[in-house]
Amino acid sequence: MTNYVRFFDTTLRDGEQSPGATLTSSEKLEVARQLARLGVDIIEAGFPAASPDDLDAVKGIADEIGRKDSLTQLGEEYKSTPIICGLARASEQDIDAAWEAIQSADHPRIHTFLATSEIHMRHKLRMDPEEVIDRVKHTVAYAKQLCNDVEFSPEDAGRSQPEFLYTVLEEAIKSGATTLNIPDTVGYTTPDEFGQLITGIVANTPGIEQVILSVHCHNDLGMATANTLAGIRAGARQAEVTINGIGERAGNTSLEEVVMSLQTRQSIFELEHGIDTTQIMRTSRMVSNYTGIVVQPNKAIVGANAFAHEAGIHQDGMLKNEETYEIMRPETVGLSQSKLVLGKHSGRHALRVRLQELGYELDDEDLKDVFRRFKRVAEKKKVVTDADIEVLITDEINQPVEVFKLQDVQVVCGTLGLPTATVRIVDPNGLLTEQASIGTGPVDACYSAIDHIIQLPNELTEYNVNAVTEGIDAIGEVTVRIQIDSEKVSAPKRLSPQREQMQYRSFGGHGASTDIFVASARAYVNALNKAIEALDLHNDHNNTITKD
Ligand code: KIV
Ligand code: ZN
Repeated sequence: MTNYVRFFDTTLRDGEQSPGATLTSSEKLEVARQLARLGVDIIEAGFPAASPDDLDAVKGIADEIGRKDSLTQLGEEYKSTPIICGLARASEQDIDAAWEAIQSADHPRIHTFLATSEIHMRHKLRMDPEEVIDRVKHTVAYAKQLCNDVEFSPEDAGRSQPEFLYTVLEEAIKSGATTLNIPDTVGYTTPDEFGQLITGIVANTPGIEQVILSVHCHNDLGMATANTLAGIRAGARQAEVTINGIGERAGNTSLEEVVMSLQTRQSIFELEHGIDTTQIMRTSRMVSNYTGIVVQPNKAIVGANAFAHEAGIHQDGMLKNEETYEIMRPETVGLSQSKLVLGKHSGRHALRVRLQELGYELDDEDLKDVFRRFKRVAEKKKVVTDADIEVLITDEINQPVEVFKLQDVQVVCGTLGLPTATVRIVDPNGLLTEQASIGTGPVDACYSAIDHIIQLPNELTEYNVNAVTEGIDAIGEVTVRIQIDSEKVSAPKRLSPQREQMQYRSFGGHGASTDIFVASARAYVNALNKAIEALDLHNDHNNTITKD
């Protein structure tokens, strides 16, 4: 058994299954690039059989992130080229789709799964145990003749009969599996139980020493990280995780918690990993912004309060010696500590240098956009901090989808009269439309003006505003979530069979500005743009733009 733990990131597959976390293909590609910078060993890029769009998105990642030549095209340095993995149910059709999507990668992997618990076999699969074993043998062997690297997962292993599990795993190894992943699909087990399950598998599965044993935990009882660490201590050498712990229901194990546990408690675990921890915050912000899933302030490692010390007694201790209350240094996870960076007299070159120091390599066009936004912020704030710069980057560069472009926002509000907003938006044909509306409040007025122009019926289900830095002149970040009733918009052209059955689809949006109404408008337009792209409504929106 080696002492290296592989990180298998499934943000783009299990994470994207979080309610409302739909990502567009270009966002998936950006996340995958960032995961490569972070140094994950394997990227589970999606579930290609789900729809032609999913297949295309995985293929794009295999082509661009899974190949050394294209990954390094922008001149960036990466530790290594990650394995690109596609998920497939235990069927030839799914496996063919996965292979079609990933085969261009330097290191492709097919991940196939079949449930092994009593309850899943009887009620979901309607198969008896012998049929399950036969299907596993057949599908793993089928995947193996396409791809040398095959992962098999017995779904709901946490509630499966251990002896049956040993037999299924033995057959998967004999059929060619190279990684065996043990999922606690419903987050039911406790750390002791899960650790024992892995110990039992190591002791009782013939051939187990030839393969990598992996763990995949869900967080329904809040024990995903503890269970994953118990699995690793019992011999697993691959951890399946997501950024910020997003995923089905209560989510998956979070990458940052497991990595920082292994690192901070190295003397207990004595294990190595390949993650560049200084990329953690950047990855966390990107995933939160794209998915619209806000990170709770007290979330371990990446929450806004994870490194904040409020109580006087703690602050006093910190001033005397940081180790009194700090078990990790914030810089280790990429939280910048420098406060005084740039101001309104700083030029483009100074901004470029600071961005490089922060790890952002921008081309001239992107630098121009960020510099324009930076100047506007610098006119309002005396000091532009690293946190401000990072949020501008996220807002400006990490916004790959821009069907409609918000140009201007003006809001009049207060205790006198009705809140009124005027917005100016450029449509996909380059036409500028201006619209004024009233509302119950300034944000409502803003959104109502935007609705008049973009005309995509939806319900705003979430609205959050956060200050990025302290002070009255802080940049505000707004995250929204909208829900689209697919019966109220014209039929989407290409939706997955699973998603076709979903009448309601959610989309997240993000915006940042020193003016929270501008940030609010940006976030809303961003969410609408994502819905238009994901539901393929571009054509409808080329024709429905009206000017009242
Ligand atoms: O939770 C689960 O069982 C899964 C499998 C597909 C590995 O996500
Ligand atoms: Zn899962």
